[in-house]
Amino acid sequence: MTGTVPRLLDDVVEASVVGSFSRLGPAVRRRLFRWEDAPPGALAGRTAVVTGATSGIGLAIGTELAGLGAQVTLVGRDAAKLVVAEEHVRAAHPAAEVTTEQADLARLADVRALTAVLVSRLPKVDVLVHNAGALVHDHQRTDDDLELTLQVHVVAPFLLTSGLLAPLRASGAARVLTMSSGGMYTQRLDVEHLQSTAVHFDGTVAYARAKRAQVELNASWAQRFPDAGIGFHALHPGWVDTPGLHSGLPGFTRLGPLLRPIPEGADTAVWLAWTPEATAPGGDFWLDRARRGTVHLPWTRTPPGEADRLWERVVGWAGIDPEAGA
Ligand SMILES: NC(=O)c1ccc[n+]([C@@H]2O[C@H](COP(=O)([O-])OP(=O)(O)OC[C@H]3O[C@@H](n4cnc5c(N)ncnc54)[C@H](OP(=O)(O)O)[C@@H]3O)[C@@H](O)[C@H]2O)c1
Repeated sequence: MTGTVPRLLDDVVEASVVGSFSRLGPAVRRRLFRWEDAPPGALAGRTAVVTGATSGIGLAIGTELAGLGAQVTLVGRDAAKLVVAEEHVRAAHPAAEVTTEQADLARLADVRALTAVLVSRLPKVDVLVHNAGALVHDHQRTDDDLELTLQVHVVAPFLLTSGLLAPLRASGAARVLTMSSGGMYTQRLDVEHLQSTAVHFDGTVAYARAKRAQVELNASWAQRFPDAGIGFHALHPGWVDTPGLHSGLPGFTRLGPLLRPIPEGADTAVWLAWTPEATAPGGDFWLDRARRGTVHLPWTRTPPGEADRLWERVVGWAGIDPEAGA
């Protein structure tokens, strides 16, 4: 059933917010749209790189992609956690081709080093998942002179995508997936206030602004690289019962059984990795295997020219212009 009635029902679910973001969303949509499982070996011969792969949604994505036959690189900042994550993937899929790379996205030098290693090791990258993220409540300035939330969610992924453009192009059908958040619906893109200062710092607002910026940049990548053979797709996972949710937004744990189990938070990212629906150049925003609007509140509409201002500012912060060599 993929006609008008299921879509209208889905619109009702989406408008309810709780019905959409909680575990009710995938429960309803799975039946409404008859979600298919990936064919066995759907990603055989493909390479995937997943950041934030030592915990929560990222670990589930890495595990699932390996189970579908992809050669997976798990990226994390903590060496001991990477060992455990690799063991987790191998325990789930003994034949998995899995390796790890250590990089703290709060250090752009780490991201540059990671990029160099990946470029030397992987002739092509078919799936790049920007999943790493955290909601922090204290203001932290990185060694790169950026606020931590902005750097980890926006600048570091931009630098990594830019550095991996050649192997992504070499894929011929690559997907770059960016894990945003439904929290982005609360904020308008405002480039001047993306770089939060210590005065009146609000971690939840900084996080939502960074997540909005991720969605805007995703669309800009698609617009600026229409012929690269790369699908750029942003998504949000709903409310997922992860260590990150417990530490960043403990109030949400009151939702208890309404929270999505981790595999349901990973589902759309895994699906975008294999489905023919994730076409290039993309630029869309997804939840539960469907494109979603990016504006729910009228005052969060992106002002004219602001997306281009964001791109230019991030080029400056990352110290790389991906269009220069395009
Ligand atoms: N859970 C939700 O309901 C929810 C909702 C909306 C969006 N999201 C997004 O989903 C993504 C995954 O979150 P999660 O809920 O699965 O949280 P999680 O369990 O805390 O996982 C976050 C991952 O990101 C890594 N990470 C954090 N800061 C990093 C840094 N500076 N450098 C490298 N890696 C870093 C963490 O590494 P460590 O293991 O070393 O901490 C961990 O592997 C995030 O982008 C989050 O914003 C989650």
